Amino acid sequence: MAAFVFLLLCVTLAAIPFFFLFRASRCRRRMLPPGNLGLPFIGETLQLISAYKTENPEPFIDERVKRFGPIFTTHVFGEPTVFSADPETNRFILMNEGKLFDCSYPASISNLLGRHSLLLMKGSLHKRMHSLTMSFANSSNIRDHLLVDIDRLVRLNLDSWNGRIFLMEEAKKITFELTVKQLMSFDPGEWTESLRKEYVLVIEGFFTVALPFFSTTYSRAIKARTKVAEALSLIVKQRRKQSEAGEKKKDILETLLAGDYGFSDEHIVDFLLALLVAGYETTSTIMTLAVKFLTETPLALAQLKEEHDQIRAEKRENEALEWSDYKSMPFTQCVVNETLRVANIIGGIFRRAMTDIPIKGYTIPKGWKVFASFRAVHLDRDHFKDARSFNPWRWQENSGTTSAGNVFTPFGGGPRLCPGYELARVELSVFLHHLVTRLSWVPAEEDKLVFFPTTRTQKRYPINVQRRNHVSKLCKE
Ligand code: HEM
Ligand SMILES: *[C@@H]1O[C@H](CO)[C@@H](O)[C@H](O)[C@H]1NC(C)=O
Ligand SMILES: *[C@@H]1O[C@H](CO)[C@@H](O)[C@H](O)[C@H]1NC(C)=O
Repeated sequence: MAAFVFLLLCVTLAAIPFFFLFRASRCRRRMLPPGNLGLPFIGETLQLISAYKTENPEPFIDERVKRFGPIFTTHVFGEPTVFSADPETNRFILMNEGKLFDCSYPASISNLLGRHSLLLMKGSLHKRMHSLTMSFANSSNIRDHLLVDIDRLVRLNLDSWNGRIFLMEEAKKITFELTVKQLMSFDPGEWTESLRKEYVLVIEGFFTVALPFFSTTYSRAIKARTKVAEALSLIVKQRRKQSEAGEKKKDILETLLAGDYGFSDEHIVDFLLALLVAGYETTSTIMTLAVKFLTETPLALAQLKEEHDQIRAEKRENEALEWSDYKSMPFTQCVVNETLRVANIIGGIFRRAMTDIPIKGYTIPKGWKVFASFRAVHLDRDHFKDARSFNPWRWQENSGTTSAGNVFTPFGGGPRLCPGYELARVELSVFLHHLVTRLSWVPAEEDKLVFFPTTRTQKRYPINVQRRNHVSKLCKE
């Protein structure tokens, strides 16, 4: 602790001259959005962190929007940053990716992701690989290939639950198994479990926000990344041989091996690892929080159960869901959207200005960071009536509580639109289907939602589960 404070002090002192320089130049640039830069170097970072450790979802932005309007300047994580809580500006930022803005990650994050991950690619290579990933996860591929395994693996997992479980842990296990299956056709087993143990250490590395290079969690994460990469690289080698011998599988690894891209094994491993990372925390958190919100909204849970019992009633005991079933879950889709809106797993996105950019009468200076906050828009009462409460019915037609479509961007947009947007929705819907038709549950302890370092519940949402009497059986008797 003492060492940390000392270090912080050194960096702070070193930053003071820059700070005054920056202040001075700021006065000349009249058009910067209004705001407060806080203390030298650390800026408003501590305020940001402490705000998001509470249950109130939007304290940091609320306060500043009230004082400065929806576009303001602050100083967080070592840099002056323009924050946007304005849907039009957010859209402008998303659509101009690669033209006026580009994405930028700190070195600590890119080392964990690997150089050849989709998230770090730019230009035409990014375009090609983004569209490849989109078609891997598009609705036809889910319908024709992925759905059957999603259904089976979710069911297998839920059937093993008994008594008290940590829902967040179980959801992570499910998500990991699904992704490994989808990417490289591996069924869960000892190999996937031992890979997952290493993988969990890698993920922890992403959340060492303060001074990552001095943290033991971070160096452990880097070591674990090497191990995971080695394990994946063995698979890639094996599959390359099989593929050359004409033994082809229908997964994304096969496409990457197909040769049109001329990728090395290292490229492929980086690419696969990034996909594993991108869908992991996000999808498992949305599964957990959907259950939490439903538990706290019994009317919504009852309506959801009814929808799924009806689907089950038409089927044999373990018959898999089909695409047409997925397409006849209107209320479930309302629950999915509302969970995405309230939980906002990706609260927004960071970009860097590639040039001076005029926006709404201000100028964002070249090289500055911008943060487009989706969460601020999703929780804005001007766009969603009674915006801070969970109300899935708002998504029903003509409810009048939701403003026009394009302010809702849980999956981003533009050239970096989340390629997993449909896949995540299907996985959550299938998960909810089997959960409500097979099990009933009660929270085992009170648990709280927090927003830092990510959206999660404090105690990993412990619940007690019980098997439900099977509906389809009841109907037949
Ligand atoms: C509820 C679940 C999910 C949410 C809320 C979510 C959200 C997002 C958002 C907001 C972005 C845009 C980032 C940016 O613009 O910088 C993104 C990118 C991405 N997502 Fe997702 N995602 C989810 C699930 C998934 C899944 C299941 C996959 C697996 C295929 C996935 C793969 C990716 C990838 C590869 C990118 C990077 C795209 C690029 O940089 O071109 N996501 N996601
Ligand atoms: C999904 O991707 C496949 C392969 O690229 C393509 O043939 C198909 O038309 C796409 N489907 C949709 C619904 O976009
Ligand atoms: C859920 O949100 C998406 C946008 O992400 C929208 O296209 C869709 O119509 C919404 N679903 C419902 C049921 O309103």
